[in-house]
Formats: sequence, structure tokens, C-alpha cells
Amino acid sequence: MVAKTMDQLVALCKRRGFIFQNADIYGGLQGVYDYGPLGVELKNNLKNAWWRSMVYERDDIEGLDAAILTNRKVLQYSGHEDTFSDPMTDCKKCKGRFRADHIKDGKCPNCGSTELTEPRPFNLMFKTAIGPVDDGSVFGYLRPETAQAIFTQFRNVVDSTSRKLPFGIAQIGKSFRNEITPRNFIFRVREFEQAELEYFVMPGEDEKWHEYWKEARIKWWEEQGLKRDNMNIYTTPKDDLAHYAKACYDIEYQFPHGMEELEGIANRTDYDLGNHTKAQEEMNLTSHCHPNPDSTQKLCIMDDNNKWVVPFVIEPSMGVDRGVLAVMTEAYEEEDLGEGNTRVVLKLKKHLAPIKVAVIPLKKNNEAIMNKCHEIKQNLLKLGIGRVALENTGNIGKAYRRHDEIGTPLCITVDFETIENQPESVTIRDRDTMEQHRVNVADLPAYLREYFL
Ligand code: GLY
Repeated sequence: MVAKTMDQLVALCKRRGFIFQNADIYGGLQGVYDYGPLGVELKNNLKNAWWRSMVYERDDIEGLDAAILTNRKVLQYSGHEDTFSDPMTDCKKCKGRFRADHIKDGKCPNCGSTELTEPRPFNLMFKTAIGPVDDGSVFGYLRPETAQAIFTQFRNVVDSTSRKLPFGIAQIGKSFRNEITPRNFIFRVREFEQAELEYFVMPGEDEKWHEYWKEARIKWWEEQGLKRDNMNIYTTPKDDLAHYAKACYDIEYQFPHGMEELEGIANRTDYDLGNHTKAQEEMNLTSHCHPNPDSTQKLCIMDDNNKWVVPFVIEPSMGVDRGVLAVMTEAYEEEDLGEGNTRVVLKLKKHLAPIKVAVIPLKKNNEAIMNKCHEIKQNLLKLGIGRVALENTGNIGKAYRRHDEIGTPLCITVDFETIENQPESVTIRDRDTMEQHRVNVADLPAYLREYFL
């Protein structure tokens, strides 16, 4: 198998319409990308798999979809305004700005100069004016993590669902960080999507649940196609922990640019609910929290002995864009077909494939064949298996090549036999084996239901 490089993936993403540089026609916007026709399908499929495993398949997790614009107070009391920063250094020679912890050998990555300023903290949050007055006095933030709204809505969710510990709240959505040096395609970007679970547990049971979620999340990534050998579990040293965490595991993945974080699983203790709660002094908090005279709610829950407790929180937090990059990296293969022929094939798990089935006419200008293609497509859509595409190029070889590259598991070809013989039949071609066999049109729904659902 040929080695995979980031350049190969970037080229495939652009060529086939997975991911484009944002504002490409104006030279782009650094660290911002747009998902194209196939990228949006792949990303939605990955998010749906996460939501299904978190919310639908369990009985202890509720969903939430909170706003991106965030009240400044939330991020003051969460600690982000004071501490959510990366160390930044400037090159005195070329004036480049870099993350100090990304600099190697004390040299500027741009020009090689060793004349660098002392690192200083750079807050990563995007400030934004809210309302019609833009004199800097009234502002909020674009959220830097989806998690905070889960904490601030804790009591509303508990009161409306009558939940008991342990239980979780799951959310998927955009977050924003003004990265000093965005890089490695969609790996480190300024606008990104997170899928975060805050799982609330009794104090004292947190370490057990931390282990539980580490194992559950590794298993889930394997179900998305990642090989265990390409993952690593990194235990964050105490000195490197985020300001809210007591402990953290990173699930790392072997991306083309190196073994890097795909998902963090943090033990946030009672730090966040504690910081946002009213009457902290009555709450038996274990965390050191900033006094909070502004909160109007006690963020606690009744335990089995009818006592109010502030739960601890375990947080599996996945980067959706990193997930897309990981499943594409794992699935990408260049195969040698012999006699000088090669093919690129994206061996995605079928539930992640952007297009599930391509319906292809052997001859595109033949009316009877085209009518049959339309009819088959409409019938297959009713199965609810995902996107079924009519591939109207008319060149069967090119159509198979394109669908191999974008990961379509099955191609159905309508040919002259379909329209001339009874019972009507089509060929089905398998992406991975490239083998074809005939199936009666009447049997297609049962065949595909069995295959996909
Ligand atoms: N909520 C954890 C993170 O954004 O990294």
C-alpha cells in the first residue's frame, strides 16, 4: 500500500468536492474551510453516528442545541477570559507570530532567526460586539467550546427531564478559537465543530466513569473504521492540563502529519458547575471556584438521600473536523490493479459514505435506460438508507472510478438487459472487491435494506 500524505488528501478533497478553502476566490481566509457537496454528507454521517450512539442508543443522555453567541459573564466565570490562552512569540526579524510551544530549536519557523520575543499569553477567544453600539463596552464571545451552555442550562435540563445521576447532556456545534498558527488542513482551524458530552456523576465516582468513557470512545472510533493500532492514548501530564481539568486522556490518531489529538476525555470535576452556581458556600464544592455574585441558580441535583449535590463531570469532547480527517486518512488507499493501472479508493464504513448507492445508465442518451434509472433511484430513496445518486456521465469506467474515489459502497448499472429482458435486472458492483453480479430490480429494496440497515 502506498503511503498517504496530507497533499493526497487535500487534492482528493478539492477534486471531488469534499472540502474547499473558504473564500477561495479572494485568496482564502486562514484556518477556515468550507465543506462541499460530499464533505457535508460525510460530516453529517459522522455526527449522526455520534448522536445515535450517545443519545438514541442509551437511556441516560439528553441532547441540547445552544447558541454560539455567548454572554461574556459565562466565559468570565468559566475561567476562559483569564486563562484560555496559548503562549505567543514574535520573530524580531521577519515579524512572524507563532505559538511558542510549536517552535523547534529556538528558531523562527519562517526565517530561521533566533531573535524571538519572550512568550506571552494570547487569548484565543473571538470577541464580538453585540447590539447596535460598537464602542467596545458591550461585547460577548463566539463560544470557544460547546460545553459551557451545557453547564449553564444544567438546571433547566434537570428540571424538565427529572434526571438522576449519572446522566449526560450531549451537544454538537460550531466553536471558534483564534489560533495563532492554523495549520495541517482541517486539523487546526479557527472555526470548527465539536461533539461534546458532559456526563454528570456523583463525586467520588468520577475516576471510574473517566475510565469507562475512555474505553467507550476508543470502541466508537473503531466502529468508525479507525484501526486500534493507529490510535494512541495519551495521559496529559498535570502541568499541561486545561484550567478546569483534574485529569485528561487524549485519544490520538496517526494523521498524515503525525500522532495528534482526535478527542479529549477530561475529568472536569465540579469546577464548571461550581463556578456558575449561586451560593457556592452552601454547596460543599471540592474545586477552588471564583466567587460568583451574578448567578441566579444553584447548579445542583438531589441525590438518593434527598441531599443537594454539585455533580462531577466527565467530558468526552471530539473534534468533528478532525474526525472527518481521521476517517478519510484511514480509508484512503491507492491500489495497484496490475498492468500499470492504479485506482484511488476510499474504503469508508458504509454508514459514513457520502453516497450510498450510485445508479448509473450504461448509455446516457437512451430514453428507456434513463427512465428506468430515475424510477430505481426514486424507489431506493424511500428506503431511508441515505443519499442515492443518479450518475449521469454516460461513461461507465469513469463513473466507477469516481465512485471508488468518493467511497460509494455500491454502484447499480442499468443496461440493455434491464430494459429488454424479464424479469428486469441490474448489475451491482462492490466498491472494495470490484465484483459485479446481477440482481432483479424487484429484489433491490430487500437487498439494500439488508446491506445498509
Ligand atoms: N470542551 C473541551 C474543549 O473544548 O477542548
